[in-house]
Amino acid sequence: MNSPAPCTVRPASLKDATAIYDLIRANPQELIIRPLGDVVRNIDRFFIAILDGEAVGCASYSIYPEAGNFAEATIELTSLVVREDRRHQGIGAKLVEAVIGRVASLNPMQLIVLTFNPAFFRTLGFQEISKHDIMHKIYMGCLNCMKYADPFTCPEVAMAINPNSYNEY
Ligand SMILES: CC(C)(COP(=O)(O)OP(=O)(O)OC[C@H]1O[C@@H](n2cnc3c(N)ncnc32)[C@H](O)[C@@H]1OP(=O)(O)O)[C@@H](O)C(=O)NCCC(=O)NCCS
Repeated sequence: MNSPAPCTVRPASLKDATAIYDLIRANPQELIIRPLGDVVRNIDRFFIAILDGEAVGCASYSIYPEAGNFAEATIELTSLVVREDRRHQGIGAKLVEAVIGRVASLNPMQLIVLTFNPAFFRTLGFQEISKHDIMHKIYMGCLNCMKYADPFTCPEVAMAINPNSYNEY
């Protein structure tokens, strides 16, 4: 990897909502587009990357309760994006590490991601899992997705990491 760019990753504030909305909206192939109101309502779950005074990336997370075992919820990393002209400078990794650091204190069973880019997540220690192991995500997320009719043949790869065993953060 190139030397990390001198960017700051910090929790987002309300004034970042429009920039986050634009970052997500610019990547409709890889990301679920979120209405601005949804970004605002969940702004406290976003991290934003700032480089040279500009918003160049963001990441967020969603919580999926585990029925009957609420202490062991699964958390999904969502809305991860780095502006195209700022990729391959370590900013994506920094955003993922910020989310891992945040969710580790919630002590979930696992942090998952569904991605077209498993190579990137492998570099951070995520491992492939079966979509059958994350049926709450399938029911609450995938069945509302308008890109693919069948979550099990959708080309997104399911991956997971135990955020408490991530030691780079
Ligand atoms: C995935 C993404 C966030 C990575 O951001 P980034 O800032 O470029 O990532 P980093 O610089 O931290 O990458 C670290 C390493 O991960 C790997 N990596 C990053 N992007 C990769 C890609 N597209 N394919 C394969 N490996 C990749 C590389 O090893 C990379 O090191 P390198 O730059 O020396 O090749 C960015 O490509 C992106 O915004 N993609 C579009 C949206 C998206 O797919 N989001 C993920 C949804 S789950």
